[in-house]
Amino acid sequence: MKHLLLITLCLIINSCSNKYETVVNSEEDYLIIPKPTSLEISTGKFLIDSNTKIIGEETLENEGNYLSNLLSEIIGETIPFTNDTKIKGNILLKLDASITNKEGYKLTINYNQITIAGKTTKGVFYGIQTLNQLIPSVKDSNNEVLIPAATIIDSPRYAYRGMHLDVARHFFPVQFVKKYIDILAMHKMNTFHWHLTEDQGWRIEIKKYPKLTEVGSIRKETIVGHGNTWKNSDVKYDGTPYGGFYTQEDVKEIVAYATERHVTVIPEIELPGHALAAIAAYPELGNTGEQYEVGTRWGVFPEIYAPSEETFKFLENVLSEVIELFPSKLIHIGGDEAPKTQWENSKLAQEVIKREGLKNEHELQSYFIKRIEKFLNSKGRNIIGWDEILEGGLAPNATVMSWRGEKGGIEAAKIHHNVIMTPTKYCYFDFYQTKNRENEPLAIGGNTTVEDVYSYEPTPKELTEEESKYVLGAQGNVWTEYMKTPEHVEYMILPRLTALSEVVWSTKDSRNWDDFQQRLKNIVIKYDEMDLNYATHSLSVEEVK
Ligand code: ACM
Repeated sequence: MKHLLLITLCLIINSCSNKYETVVNSEEDYLIIPKPTSLEISTGKFLIDSNTKIIGEETLENEGNYLSNLLSEIIGETIPFTNDTKIKGNILLKLDASITNKEGYKLTINYNQITIAGKTTKGVFYGIQTLNQLIPSVKDSNNEVLIPAATIIDSPRYAYRGMHLDVARHFFPVQFVKKYIDILAMHKMNTFHWHLTEDQGWRIEIKKYPKLTEVGSIRKETIVGHGNTWKNSDVKYDGTPYGGFYTQEDVKEIVAYATERHVTVIPEIELPGHALAAIAAYPELGNTGEQYEVGTRWGVFPEIYAPSEETFKFLENVLSEVIELFPSKLIHIGGDEAPKTQWENSKLAQEVIKREGLKNEHELQSYFIKRIEKFLNSKGRNIIGWDEILEGGLAPNATVMSWRGEKGGIEAAKIHHNVIMTPTKYCYFDFYQTKNRENEPLAIGGNTTVEDVYSYEPTPKELTEEESKYVLGAQGNVWTEYMKTPEHVEYMILPRLTALSEVVWSTKDSRNWDDFQQRLKNIVIKYDEMDLNYATHSLSVEEVK
């Protein structure tokens, strides 16, 4: 009681002496992306200085330390976090069971106190991300960092807010993958879909099959410029071996880093197609027994896994190691672009079709995927696959990632399967981002502007309210055939990812392109602080900087 009186007295004295209590803020001080559900502007500013202390219970240690690092870096002095709630702190982190959404939070900023309350630790983390966007990038003329007062109540529209990265066509170092996760976290995106295996490279160490990385992670050269025509004599190759892979230690480090940022990492192990690198390493997994080379050009390859018991054993062993590394409930098994010509000509494949009473090779693919699903389900995991997994019959518990438009997603939702929308037109960030390609780096094709992404509505009109519940969210895909460097990836995702983050987080009614463009000005400053490369077509940067 005495303690409480003392605290109250301190607060009163503090409040009397705080010259920021009555500062009037303007709308320009609150440029947040994704736009929060509700934002009430108040009078006053909170000063971050060496007296600032963060407190919160022990379960919020991860978020407390994250905020402590963030603020310490901004002001150049240590802003400590303590879970000793007897200590007086002016930034309070807490859990609040009355918040309904699992990812929801309430951020209250007064001139003398900040409180971030979340339903879960994740909600608190998102409150911190919002707070970060309210911190001005430059100190004011008194060299002070001031945060405008507000009450923000916020929660996401969709539960799945994802970004994909293909590290197989081009490989990206651990440090960049972490930076990518930071970009996701800053936008309250909660899923990183890590595309780890391809025709052109196998990028994850599997202890039981060392040749996957010894052989499968290296291609002898890479096609120059556009070109995915099979054995087209006109195409040129660079003559330089290319490779790279993540050790299991690297993977653990990345998954731990993502977990601290409330990002779930979904690994993708492609099957039955896009498997040339694995078949080059272990030719017995293929349909012909031929020795192939790891792919050196882009596109779709005819070499797919044989539907043999040996292949199933191999895939189960690979997936057993994968699930030890990734706690994600969903494991992506690919399923896209698997040409059936080799199966049509394979004695073994035809025998399996006959043995299992299947109609054709599409049903054989469905059989293949259902077997993998059964295995993963037995380990407590569920599969997610590209929309081709609908062909020949969908596996019972599968989630569908709809990329060839929304058709597959609509079909899956109608039969009550979960769906993630990633239609090329809006969600393929390997497409050009302007019609004027003159000054653009080479891209795969297409054209998806930031405004196109911003206009996307993930829940199709064709679905009833009940069916719409199966649309869990949307994701941006980053295929890296033409992206060789981290800087190029950044250029392709920013600010398209920023637009997508609002599509999947904010309410449908709050979407407003002009208003978004105004708020982009603020996040561009954050991009600069993070040393990110970004495209400027949708911003008038001269005006902004
Ligand atoms: C895909 O773009 N092949 C899923």
